[in-house]
Amino acid sequence: MPTTIFNSPIGPLIGHRGVTESAPENTLVAIEKAAEYGCKWVEIDAQLTKDLIPVLMHDDDLDRTTSAKGRLADKYLRDLALVDAGAWYDPPHPGQKIPTLRECLRLCFELDLRINVEIKPTEGLDEITAEKVMETLIDFWPEDKAPPLISSFSRSAMKIAQAAAPEWPRGMLYHGLDEDWLAFAKEVDAWSLHVWDEGLTQEQVTAMQSEGYPVLVYSVDDLKTSQRMKDFGVDAIFTGAPEIMGGIWS
Ligand code: G3P
Ligand code: MG
Repeated sequence: MPTTIFNSPIGPLIGHRGVTESAPENTLVAIEKAAEYGCKWVEIDAQLTKDLIPVLMHDDDLDRTTSAKGRLADKYLRDLALVDAGAWYDPPHPGQKIPTLRECLRLCFELDLRINVEIKPTEGLDEITAEKVMETLIDFWPEDKAPPLISSFSRSAMKIAQAAAPEWPRGMLYHGLDEDWLAFAKEVDAWSLHVWDEGLTQEQVTAMQSEGYPVLVYSVDDLKTSQRMKDFGVDAIFTGAPEIMGGIWS
């Protein structure tokens, strides 16, 4: 039985940050690659510029994935115009920009990709990040389009997402399963649980699924882990390398 969100199968492979193994993460080319490799869904990380515009970025700092340095939260959107988000990658993809969430959504609609938006607040900005991400999504989302899946490690961000769009599905993110995982999943009325593959056990997967939650595992980029997750019976994996996973999941 395929795992479904509002009658649309989620599919076992979700492009992680678009992709990570063949293009620079959280860029438009990474999203295009995910679609090219057959993903029906992509996951991206959304956080805020200083002028509170949601853009795609995983780290708090720009240093690892762009040509600039310093905290994203200290830069205005206009400061990002000349920042290269692909030149650092091997092989380099010069000319890639840090996309705004709106640019990302536009591309996903064009490519007919469903999207998991991970709200990724920098420290202390949980509420405002969730508010601005939700505001952008709600403003941009056509009524007749199947909704995004919203997720976050931040419990306060999840509560804001729930209040802003109670009918949209939410995925609670965990590093490891803390003892109150079920209580909190219930509190935010989660649709799915998104868990780290490290240390994940069959018993945990069974426990989560027995409570009725699809289990989505991040980030699975090698075949050995992928096979282990398949054997556990998880519902989907976030993978930066969908191009090598087909044999296991098709
Ligand atoms: O949303 C799944 C996964 O992306 C969570 O971890 O650190 O890669 O954003 P991270
Ligand atoms: Mg993420």
